[in-house]
Amino acid sequence: MPTTKLKDLANCIEAQQFDAAMLKELFVVADAMAEVKPGSEASRMLQGFNMATLFYEPSTRTRLSFEGAMGKLGGGILSTESAGEYSSAAKGETLEDTIRTVEGYSDIIVLRHFTAGAARRAANAADTPVINAGDGPGQHPTQALLDTYTIYNELGRLENLKIGLVGDLANGRTVRSLASMMTNFKNVSFYFIAPDVVKMGRDIKDELDEKGVKWEESEDLLGVASEVDVLYQTRIQKERFGDRLDEYEACRGIYNIDTAVMDAMRKDAIVMHPLPRLDEITTEVDADPRAAYFRQARNGLYVRMALLKVLLKV
Ligand code: CP
Repeated sequence: MPTTKLKDLANCIEAQQFDAAMLKELFVVADAMAEVKPGSEASRMLQGFNMATLFYEPSTRTRLSFEGAMGKLGGGILSTESAGEYSSAAKGETLEDTIRTVEGYSDIIVLRHFTAGAARRAANAADTPVINAGDGPGQHPTQALLDTYTIYNELGRLENLKIGLVGDLANGRTVRSLASMMTNFKNVSFYFIAPDVVKMGRDIKDELDEKGVKWEESEDLLGVASEVDVLYQTRIQKERFGDRLDEYEACRGIYNIDTAVMDAMRKDAIVMHPLPRLDEITTEVDADPRAAYFRQARNGLYVRMALLKVLLKV
């Protein structure tokens, strides 16, 4: 259920916490964050606060943009990369005990974990705000925030949109969170394009049905590319397949975005990807102005600066 006001937000665990008004208010703050200059008064607004980043799974963008965001606003950073190996989790400490300990040293905790539901468990154990930086194949709500912000910045609207979600829709927590978040806006519809073993989960389809959001599954990438405003590609997540590597290999390379797909796309459409990418968007696409994925990654800094400000009630 959404919190009624952005100022009342206590943590960030799932996309469903946000409604349209909260998103638009957050994006105004993010716009202001993009203007914060080093040495300015605004660059000291989180001075005296500490943020702990506990990452049990690899990350480049999420961890570094959160740490960059805290640094740009004058706050301190306590960081555990590879927390499963280098924190006391390796000695068998429970997540709850780790969180209760770390909140003694920090004012906000950013958690990436390999288990769906871990961020909710952490929030239940903590008195400080907890931010879900990705919980296994569950959710990645801050990615959905920056994705939604990117769509708004690139296209100037969040209503009347056709969005194609491509790739690993079963394990891709970014697309699961984005689909939920976009239900806040009128006349948004989805095409799901995924290999059979990684199709969009029943839970998200049911949520879209309950909210009256149209979706359909398709195998026709070129056809969908010609229709949509946003073509959102994702990586097939090898790490979720365990020893089923034959299934992983069978999924790879079926739906790649290349110049032929770009030729089919409208001139005013954009390509997004949460990154990292492997070969599912070919590198010659990068020079096309419709390739928004590196601008999307940069937006993560501004949105996460805004979220830290909101959650720390500054
Ligand atoms: N998009 C994203 O979550 O990237 P990282 O895994 O590098 O944080």
